[in-house]
Amino acid sequence: MKNIVILISGRGSNMQAIVEAARAEKWPARIAAIISNRADAGGLDYAAAAGIPTAIVVSKNYSSRAEFDAALQAEIDRFAPDLVVLAGFMRILTAPFVDHYAGRLMNIHPSLLPSFPGLATHQQALSFGVKVHGATVHFVTADLDHGPIVAQAAVPVLPDDSEDTLAGRVLEQEHIIYPRAVRWFVEGRLTIEDGRVHLAADAR
Ligand code: GRF
Repeated sequence: MKNIVILISGRGSNMQAIVEAARAEKWPARIAAIISNRADAGGLDYAAAAGIPTAIVVSKNYSSRAEFDAALQAEIDRFAPDLVVLAGFMRILTAPFVDHYAGRLMNIHPSLLPSFPGLATHQQALSFGVKVHGATVHFVTADLDHGPIVAQAAVPVLPDDSEDTLAGRVLEQEHIIYPRAVRWFVEGRLTIEDGRVHLAADAR
């Protein structure tokens, strides 16, 4: 059984997709806790209703990034995670935190990295007039939105897209690739070599 801790800041739809896939597909994994940096994160209600332990580490109560990350790390480590999953966790993390979880910290970013790191990715995609947009699951390194890529999904950008319609199309794909990528990790199929992720064949 692998322990997974999921960090959220808001709605938590990616977290929910992972929890549901883990249960439906009977992964050899336990969602050990959902931790939020905001007390008002909508995803906390779902987690509690699903019987998953929740915790809140309020970022604005700490005077520095280092202090917040240390408190967050202590809370996460209570659950002895094999994998920490960032699912709409809207914080820039310090290098010591990222190093502590090297190789066991995953994120989903709503763009086809390395295009459009940072915020407002859908707006950026529309402004640049790209014809294809998407989402990326990657291991987290200290270099923001640039870690080794586990999975990507592409969607078309349509002529009449707004930020919302494009975000919705991307989110549908996020809910497919994130659970899949976490499952690969749980199955022990992912290795990182020279900054690239290798997926071993399914043993079954
Ligand atoms: C997702 O689009 C994710 O890629 C981005 O923030 C959004 C979070 O949505 N980082 P949710 O909280 O998982 O519903």
